[in-house]
Amino acid sequence: KEAKLWGGRFEESVTDSVEKFTESISFDKALYKHDIMGSRAHASMLAHQGLITDDDRDKILDGLDAIKKQIERGEFEWRTDREDVHMNIEAALTDLVGEPAKKLHTARSRNDQVCTDFRLWCRDAIDAIVLRIKHLQLERDASRLLDCRARMNFCPLGACALAGTGLPIDRFMTSEALGFTAPMRNSIDAVSDRDFVMEFLAANSITAIHLSRLGEEWVLWASEEFGFLTPSDSVSTGSSIMPQKKNPDPMELVRGKSARVVGDLVSLLVLCKGLPQAYNRDLQEDKEPAFDSAKAIMGMLEVSAEFAENITFNQERIRNALPAGHLDATTLADYLVKKGIPFRTSHDIVGRAVGFCVSRNRQLEHMTLTDLKSISSTFDEDVYDFLGVENSIKNFSSYGSTGSECVSSQLDYWVTKLDLV
Ligand code: ARG
Repeated sequence: KEAKLWGGRFEESVTDSVEKFTESISFDKALYKHDIMGSRAHASMLAHQGLITDDDRDKILDGLDAIKKQIERGEFEWRTDREDVHMNIEAALTDLVGEPAKKLHTARSRNDQVCTDFRLWCRDAIDAIVLRIKHLQLERDASRLLDCRARMNFCPLGACALAGTGLPIDRFMTSEALGFTAPMRNSIDAVSDRDFVMEFLAANSITAIHLSRLGEEWVLWASEEFGFLTPSDSVSTGSSIMPQKKNPDPMELVRGKSARVVGDLVSLLVLCKGLPQAYNRDLQEDKEPAFDSAKAIMGMLEVSAEFAENITFNQERIRNALPAGHLDATTLADYLVKKGIPFRTSHDIVGRAVGFCVSRNRQLEHMTLTDLKSISSTFDEDVYDFLGVENSIKNFSSYGSTGSECVSSQLDYWVTKLDLV
């Protein structure tokens, strides 16, 4: 067995089950690109500060490049006995370039390394998710993620295990090289907190709930009973027993996957709930929920956008369904208000008119003026400009309302803002 990088004080090697239980390479290899970025910045800083020679730095940088290529060609051997992504890369670098690689971990711990990698990974994941949100257009969900990105963009590197170091490192240099706003101010906080992932997964959860509600509505509208919309065959699936079925399954799954996104957030919150300050190995469990959440939300966004592009709204069917619910009743109450009747009284009058219609299976617009006048003498010939769904829609005119003019100016706003012209 190969000696562990941390093996100096150990007399026995770990059991196979402990090795298997404590490894994280099976999932944290997803951080390889960010781990290498971090190591490159760190090595350059060490050389700049005179902690390693320029020659050592060059050997480290070339070695890291070679390892990155091996990984991307699928030729890198990920070893469970090397525990995690950090030690896999460091040990492989040592195999490749020898002595200089042993200097790379100067003034660094896996504790600051892992949360640097993870912040870089989350930052990239946010950019990828925001791109997909923009494609579907959910404005506040994107800005929530960007707020979170700005708050997360501080660099833990150089906090080392928890206490920083006595060696003359330059944390501002590594922070800048990695595109962070600044180094984190407190070394214990830097290795301790996972609020940045919590916030990221919370923002994903809110987006997921938005998508789930959208999914529910589209599924309902696609049902035989509603028939308000028809998804194209390309975004539908069939049933293995019922030959006639065409199901809006992608959107049912969008609704379904929102559960795991919320679950990922809850896992992370509960993970951190009882932890004391600084790094605790429990924190290794923070990655899988984040990976899962990002993967799920990206799929949900892509499929929802495709679904949106492949829907036909059945206008006839929608138009025919509209009169059924006496949607013009509120407009009628407003009509009476405009004639000087207090709203509570007009509500009561219109309620009685609706009762009249319900008992005769009739629409408000089909009531005669005589029938209307028998309920309230305030009704006049002009009442018919307020009845019927189309008149009702025309009458809604307050800022942001569902009236036709308001909707079209809202559409104009977004077409300009999103540069869709
Ligand atoms: N694989 C570990 C993680 O993901 C790296 C940090 C290990 N640090 C430690 N003190 N054991 O959290």
